[in-house]
Amino acid sequence: MTLTEIANKNGTDKGTEHYEAHGYTEVYDKYIPSEGNYTLLEIGVWHGDSMRMWKQYNPNMNLHAIDIDPRVTNHISPDEFNIHIGDQTDEKFLEDVVKLTGPLDFVIDDGSHVGEHIVKSFEILWKHIKPGGYYFIEDLHAGQADAMNTIKKIKDFSKNESPSDYPFLMAKVIGPSTLSLYRKLMIIKKEDESNSRNNQQ
Ligand SMILES: C[S@@+](CC[C@H](N)C(=O)[O-])C[C@H]1O[C@@H](n2cnc3c(N)ncnc32)[C@H](O)[C@@H]1O
Repeated sequence: MTLTEIANKNGTDKGTEHYEAHGYTEVYDKYIPSEGNYTLLEIGVWHGDSMRMWKQYNPNMNLHAIDIDPRVTNHISPDEFNIHIGDQTDEKFLEDVVKLTGPLDFVIDDGSHVGEHIVKSFEILWKHIKPGGYYFIEDLHAGQADAMNTIKKIKDFSKNESPSDYPFLMAKVIGPSTLSLYRKLMIIKKEDESNSRNNQQ
């Protein structure tokens, strides 16, 4: 089954059938492998639909998620899934979570969708992303996400040098990270600079 089929089966709006049917799985399936032991941290559990999706997609991944609302554990068992209850803007909480997860290959922010929260989580977690890893931010269309301002802050923080002042037109930037946009999804890759140095030799 493709990731989108698994998403649709589990009822998450990351797929193409349920709620707003964002179709993000069409992107994730190109970046996140269906095999291998890597670490994925998702911000936002809600009813656990995406957690079940990830587990079916690749049972071998080191899967963790956070949510501010302890009631999420009424929908998904903390015995079966690594669920951490806390606020995505709480630095100490996130640092404690990363002590448990280890360095991160993928982070997906599907939490509050508030611009300030998105930026804060990014500023805390970006240093824990492995070279070659990805940080995804969903639902930039949400009013509270304040998309243009959020993109600018993240672009500045991850030290991109943009060839354009219009991030929506930008697919590639020069520097230690690459920022691109797919509809309402922001994708920030932490470039592996040792690789690019080797390639230049
Ligand atoms: C869109 S839902 C997550 C959906 C889930 N990822 C899926 O695809 O099935 C957003 C979740 O973010 C949580 N949330 C909201 N504000 C938060 C915050 N400040 N820190 C952590 N989680 C938050 C909410 O409690 C809610 O469960």
